[in-house]
Amino acid sequence: MYKTIKDINLKNKKVILRVTYDVPLKKNGNGWMVVDDSRIKISIPTIDYLLKQNCKIILISYLGRPHGKVAEDLRLKPVVKELIRQLALLNNTKGNLTGLAAKKVKIIYLKDCVGKEVEYKIKEMKPREITLLENTRFHPEEEKNDLKFAQKLANLGEIFINDAFAQSHRMYASTVGITNFLPSAMGLNFEKEIKILTKIKTNSKKPLVIIIGGVKINTKIEVIKNFLKQADWILIGGVAGLIFLKELGYNVGKLPNDTLKSQTNNSIKKILAELLPFVGEKIILPIDGIIEKTIGLKKQAREIDIAFLNSHDLSECSILDIGPQTIELFSQYIKKVKTIIWNGPMGLFEKEKFSQGTKKIAQAIADSKVYSLIGGGDTEEAISKFNLDGKFSHVCVAGGAMLEFLADKKLPGLEVLKIKK
Ligand code: 3PG
Repeated sequence: MYKTIKDINLKNKKVILRVTYDVPLKKNGNGWMVVDDSRIKISIPTIDYLLKQNCKIILISYLGRPHGKVAEDLRLKPVVKELIRQLALLNNTKGNLTGLAAKKVKIIYLKDCVGKEVEYKIKEMKPREITLLENTRFHPEEEKNDLKFAQKLANLGEIFINDAFAQSHRMYASTVGITNFLPSAMGLNFEKEIKILTKIKTNSKKPLVIIIGGVKINTKIEVIKNFLKQADWILIGGVAGLIFLKELGYNVGKLPNDTLKSQTNNSIKKILAELLPFVGEKIILPIDGIIEKTIGLKKQAREIDIAFLNSHDLSECSILDIGPQTIELFSQYIKKVKTIIWNGPMGLFEKEKFSQGTKKIAQAIADSKVYSLIGGGDTEEAISKFNLDGKFSHVCVAGGAMLEFLADKKLPGLEVLKIKK
């Protein structure tokens, strides 16, 4: 049993609301704009609930991976415009900046999340005002779950509500440490996700296939081991698939820096070694891929068979998508199951020439009439891009947290919300 927002008296309180505004951004003139608004949309019911309780709302989140330093391209400022739009929609106005809610609810953005200036501005807040604090990951203390930093955050409010299920697998000051100092509970979206995912975990129909892709491999590799018990097959594409192929001795070309760091991590290496015997049986890897090669003066996408990878010089190339044979292979598995769980794109879907793997796998899942759970910010962005919204049984904005919850791992941000007996 967990403590939820409904268990706390919030009337007129100053509430720190932990949200997941880790949203994709793209350059827009001199500034940045939000590309996919799903993570903002799901925060609105809890914000609305708090507004109705006449609360002052302090929003906190991290965005991207700035590694403890200020990064101008990872500021939360672009979220404000989207938040105003979503709040306006809530009041059935046309959803533009002159909407009723936008006039009524003041949103203040601050360029830091702690410090004198922040404290001063928060003291000035009036009921029904919203303050969005800056990216907590700009401070190295956040990822260390530093208690002094957590207390500084906690001192800004009277109650802590965590609605950031997607970041609850991180043991951070803003998800865990802060709960030492304030009465804490989960928000409406967090509660909803836990209910849905618990049902899937305990009640899903077999056979079950889990499809994993994307670039954030460290948490994924760990959960794959737990999934061996639950899943009939695990299909692995994206950078996660390349890591397995590399471990099997294939030359997979260039990999992202974060991935290389994770791959040299000893515990990841150990898990990979334990998983290799399952490849070809329960774990299914890509059999071909798409690379980008400079031919003459032009960069061209080329199909490449995994079996022949080592006869190519890929020192300057990356494998950026799964190929047509892998799409066919993965689709065969999708056709023979009763439950599908998918997290992580199959390739660099943002670029048209590397989007086919993700697009066709998404389409194959959408066409299957079985229960389908899709998770993760990038995966969600991909299905919107391919106009497949509404074609899946449930779309969860959490990626890593969703996988860890389903794989029976303890989520630190959830554990601290348990009602102690
Ligand atoms: C996500 O996008 O899955 C969450 O925001 C977590 O991001 P992280 O892996 O950078 O902590």
